[in-house]
Order: sequence, then structure tokens, then C-alpha cells
Amino acid sequence: MFLKILLLSLLIPFCIAIDTVTANESLPDSGILLSKERNFALGFFSPISSRYRYLGIWYNKLLPEQTVVWVANRENPINDSSGALSMSSDGNLVLHASTDQNFPIWSTNVSLKGRNACKAQLLDSGNLVLVQNERIVWQSFDYPTDTMLPGIRLGLDLKNGFNRFLTSWRSADDPGIGDFSFKLNPTGSPQFFLYKGLIPYWRGNPWTPSVSPTIPQYLFRYTFTNTEDEIYYSFAVDDKSVITRTVVDNSGLLQSLNWDNGSRRWKQSWWAPKYPYGHCGPYSICNFNNVDAYECTCLPGYKPKSLMNWYFRHGSAGCVRKQQQTSMCRNREGFIKVAGVKLPDTSIASSMNKSMSSFGCEQLCLRNCSCKAFAISDFEMKGVYCLTWYGELMDMTEYRGGSDLYVRVDKIELGTFLLLLLALP
Ligand SMILES: *[C@@H]1O[C@H](CO)[C@@H](O)[C@H](O)[C@H]1NC(C)=O
Ligand SMILES: *[C@@H]1O[C@H](CO)[C@@H](O)[C@H](O)[C@H]1NC(C)=O
Ligand SMILES: *[C@@H]1O[C@H](CO)[C@@H](O)[C@H](O)[C@H]1NC(C)=O
Ligand SMILES: *[C@@H]1O[C@H](CO)[C@@H](O)[C@H](O)[C@H]1NC(C)=O
Ligand SMILES: *[C@@H]1O[C@H](CO)[C@@H](O)[C@H](O)[C@H]1NC(C)=O
Ligand SMILES: *[C@@H]1O[C@H](CO)[C@@H](O)[C@H](O)[C@H]1NC(C)=O
Repeated sequence: MFLKILLLSLLIPFCIAIDTVTANESLPDSGILLSKERNFALGFFSPISSRYRYLGIWYNKLLPEQTVVWVANRENPINDSSGALSMSSDGNLVLHASTDQNFPIWSTNVSLKGRNACKAQLLDSGNLVLVQNERIVWQSFDYPTDTMLPGIRLGLDLKNGFNRFLTSWRSADDPGIGDFSFKLNPTGSPQFFLYKGLIPYWRGNPWTPSVSPTIPQYLFRYTFTNTEDEIYYSFAVDDKSVITRTVVDNSGLLQSLNWDNGSRRWKQSWWAPKYPYGHCGPYSICNFNNVDAYECTCLPGYKPKSLMNWYFRHGSAGCVRKQQQTSMCRNREGFIKVAGVKLPDTSIASSMNKSMSSFGCEQLCLRNCSCKAFAISDFEMKGVYCLTWYGELMDMTEYRGGSDLYVRVDKIELGTFLLLLLALP
């Protein structure tokens, strides 16, 4: 009985504000903040074989693993247990250690209006929020580390020029900024890249209205938004028993993982890259399904730049025009459809805001002799969304459910293609 009362009295102070930090409160190295339903914990941790201390957020219930989803002081580890998270007099969250009491190791560093009390709260989504006057003034979801959780919006906030992206840890025991990042590139028409340093390592599908705004799939809802205010990708899960995250690891693997309650382990459900960016070179398509043949094939009207390289399966030099002496500029050229591909790199593409007809899109491309290809996708049933490419066509992949690409070809290629069509039974 006595023990019970003692336990209760120990529990009560925690129950009041287990998930928040307010003015004059401090979270020491030994402390822990739990979200309301105890899904996530905020506290200090050391990666596997590291003696450094970091402030981070991890899943609280998924034992025995400690899966960290966010780190505050990635680049400024604390080398002892003197770290403490507190609220500064201006309402910002600050992280101090014994080594530097004057200058914080990390801070939310937002300018706050007035002296109204702030509070910091760890939500059950894994988001740490700083709230002033019921308004979120800072959130960890705006500063993701290597992990994307449901609700995080990866991409650009165009109003304040803010790009949210993932960056890998440096190594399994160093959460510092590593080589790989998964980031929106808004140049041309928006698309996501996995970068190694500044170099594209893998590319996601470009944005088109047909993959927008919300694609319902089994358990998940994916959103890709492209407006004047923001361009972002996010996903949501309605079933609370589904625990999922997308992470870029320090070897450059981008993967989606689901928690398997039976084996108590993370299970991979999707991963990239299967082949790196530009694996087959310009004007060439990768096809992983054809096990017997070489995975690179040239677009219609193109041939391997070097047959020797092709024979030895080095595709990165790509393909060149078959008839280089035949102009493709107002010389009875046309388009050949390539069905079911990941559309080429859209950083050299331009897109039409407004819906137009598919004929209009074809004419738009035909009129401009530097236009190499076009693609159309349904635009809210009111017409089509038109994408046109002006430059080298890079990084296409054949896959079921891919888009149709219309490739500009000269009159000889077009003639041969039409003859072949006629010869079909
Ligand atoms: C925090 O501490 C200061 C000075 O010790 C005090 O004036 C203030 O009222 C305290 N604030 C809260 C919310 O307890
Ligand atoms: C921790 O870091 C500080 C500042 O870099 C240094 O002065 C101190 O010696 C370090 N302590 C240990 C135990 O390594
Ligand atoms: C806070 O932000 C300002 C301006 O954005 C910057 O100059 C300053 O270095 C930042 N301070 C910290 C501690 O990060
Ligand atoms: C996970 O497994 C535990 C037992 O190992 C069980 O108590 C719990 O209800 C399960 N959770 C879900 C969401 O299935
Ligand atoms: C697209 O929309 C933006 C903003 O509404 C506008 O500034 C731009 O001129 C438009 N571009 C085209 C090609 O219509
Ligand atoms: C063709 O399109 C490119 C890219 O949009 C543009 O820079 C160029 O001026 C256009 N040329 C003509 C003749 O319209």
C-alpha cells in the first residue's frame, strides 16, 4: 500500500506536464519528455558507439530499438552529461552545456513578438512545437534531419524561402550532416532529387497534376502540392497502428520502413535508387524488367553513341540522333509516343499553368525547334497539363503505370515508324 502511494505521488507531477517545457523549466541530460500518448520521447541520447550526447526525438514504444527521428544539435555534440534544454527569457528553446553557458549549443532562434509566455510541447506525431498565443512559431517538422514522418512537408515554402529537406547522418554513430540529401528542386518543373553532395544521385517522378493533390492508396494518403505559396510532398496515415517513416541513410539509401509488431523490427517497403541518375545517359531509357537484355535502350530516332560501350554495357554516354544531317526544324518532323516511362529530368522543362488541349501542347512543342519532347497529363478534367522539354532528355525509366512521352523525330524516322504501323496485321 505504501509503495503504491509513493508511486502515485511520484507519477502525479509528471502527469501534469509530461509533454511540455515552459518558462523556468529545464530538461536535464537525465530527463525525458513524453508525448501525450507516449508515442515519442524527447531527450538526450548517444548513438551506438559514441560518447557524445545529442538532444533528439525517438519512438518511445518501439523497444528494444531506439530509433531516432530528429536531432537538434547534429553538428554540435555535447561531450559530457551537462546538457540541458530550457526556455530562454525571450521564449526560445535553448540547449546549453557546461562548456559554454553564454552562447547556446543550439536554439530555436525565432524572433518572438512581445513577452507573452511560450511553451514547448512534444506532440504525438513526433513534432516538437514552440507555441506562443496558441500559434506555432517554430516546429521541428520544419527542420527535419534524416527522417520524414507522416505530416512533414518536404519542399519549399515560397513565402519565406524555406526549403525543408532530409540529410543523412554522417555515419551510424554521428548524426552530423552527411553526404546525401533528399530535396526538392523547383527549377523548370518541380521534382525531388536524392543528391550526393551537389550531384544528382537519383531522381523521383516529376510533379504533374495527375499525381495531385491527394492520392489515396492502401493505408497512405500522399500529397504533392504545387501552388504560388508552396511546393511540397507529404504523406499521412489514418490507421494509428501503422508506424512508418522514410529515411535517407548514410550510404545514400532512401527507404520507407514500416514497424512490424510481430518481429519487433523495421521492415523495408520501398527503396531507391535501383539505378543511379543518368545510368543510361541522354536520350536513353532504363528498363529493369527485361532480365536477358541490356537495361538501356535508345529513344526512337536515336542510336547508341558508342556501340562498343553499349556492347560492354557502359550506357552512361547515352544515345545520339540517327540521322544527324536531317533537320528536325520545320522539315516535316513529328512525334513518336514512348509509353509508360518516368518522364525525363524536368529541370529543362517548362510547364503550362493553364489547361490546354493535347493538340495545343503538340503544336507548342513543334513550333519551337529546341523542343525535344512533350508530355500531357489530365488537368482536373478541364483539359491537359502540358510539359515541354528544351535540351538533353535525361533519366527515363520504363515502368508499369508510367507516363507517355512524345519524342520529336525527323521525317525519316517518322516515315519508317508509320510504315511499320501500316505493316502490322
Ligand atoms: C520565472 O522566473 C522569474 C525570475 O526568477 C520570475 O520572475 C517569473 O515569474 C518566473 N516565471 C514563471 C512562469 O514561473
Ligand atoms: C569538452 O569540450 C570542451 C570544449 O570543447 C573541452 O574544453 C573539454 O575539455 C571537453 N571535455 C571532455 C571530457 O572531453
Ligand atoms: C539566429 O539567427 C540569426 C539570423 O537569422 C543568426 O544571425 C544567428 O547566428 C542565429 N543564432 C544562432 C544561435 O543560431
Ligand atoms: C503489438 O504487439 C503487442 C504484443 O507484442 C500487443 O500488445 C499490441 O497490441 C500490438 N499492437 C498492435 C498495434 O498490433
Ligand atoms: C504561371 O502563373 C504565375 C503565377 O500565377 C505567373 O506569374 C506566370 O506568368 C504564369 N506562367 C504562364 C506560362 O502562364
Ligand atoms: C524556344 O523555347 C526556349 C525555352 O523555352 C526559349 O528560350 C526560346 O526562345 C524558344 N524559341 C522560340 C523560337 O520561340
